[in-house]
Amino acid sequence: MKNTLTEKEINPLQSIEMWEDDVLERYPVAGEPSKAKDEYRNYDNPVRDTVREFYRLNHTYQTYDFVQEKRNEFLKFDRKEMKPWQAMEFLNTLVDDSDPDIELDQLQHLLQSAEAIRKDGHPDWFVLTGFIHDMGKVLCLFGEPQWAVVGDTFPVGCAFSDKIVYPEYFENNPDSKDERYNTRYGIYSHGCGLDNVQLSWGHDEYMYQISKEYLPEPALYMIRYHSFYAQHREESYDHLMSGHDRRMFEWVRRFNPYDLYSKSPTPPDLKELKPYYEDLLAKYLPATIRL
Ligand SMILES: [Fe+2]
Ligand SMILES: [Fe+2]
Repeated sequence: MKNTLTEKEINPLQSIEMWEDDVLERYPVAGEPSKAKDEYRNYDNPVRDTVREFYRLNHTYQTYDFVQEKRNEFLKFDRKEMKPWQAMEFLNTLVDDSDPDIELDQLQHLLQSAEAIRKDGHPDWFVLTGFIHDMGKVLCLFGEPQWAVVGDTFPVGCAFSDKIVYPEYFENNPDSKDERYNTRYGIYSHGCGLDNVQLSWGHDEYMYQISKEYLPEPALYMIRYHSFYAQHREESYDHLMSGHDRRMFEWVRRFNPYDLYSKSPTPPDLKELKPYYEDLLAKYLPATIRL
């Protein structure tokens, strides 16, 4: 499929952070006035149009088969082997067309999330989770389209919820016409548990698969489902959740504010923080990881 896509279809956003900025507008800090739904969708804004195009592509191409294809391609982990800190530095080579004076780099976002978690006195594995949760964005460095790396995630193999942002674009997704996949449960059953459900492909699932042997379960839930807004904010896939998922999602919800609301314009001091985070990586992750 990739061969038939234009550069604009592979990278519709100037920067993948535009997706997160958009999420932040949809889910503003509690207490701050939220934009009315119509206002959010309709006001005349070129950035908004770019994000909308990003979702059009995401919703069109993330089919059940596409997800299987990507899992086969990337869960072999045959691209690189490096120390965890080197993997973080590799992620930080991801530069895009946005203005470097106003846009924080990848490591800065991760350090800000992790430092906010640390300041609140959470256990060290929670801090580490903040630090590595977006490492999977290295997928962009392997030439993957932005809409197959970031964006809200959602189950494939069953009907798409209208609580997912821009649900109208699922019209273009062939699965919405496929009777195996377009019913409420599709290929799944009531309460089957999210571990049995395939989500759209992106940095969350990829990083979960990299770290699943090494971190406590709440950390793995945070990593795997942090972009699953249709559930952790909208609760629109309750029918697929197990009781255990429901308990674990408390952690996903606890994590989300550190992801969305920890951005501050002052960049953290990487040099000063590096020894602490290197130790933390060494405590939980193996000497080298495979991407
Ligand atoms: Fe993320
Ligand atoms: Fe993030």
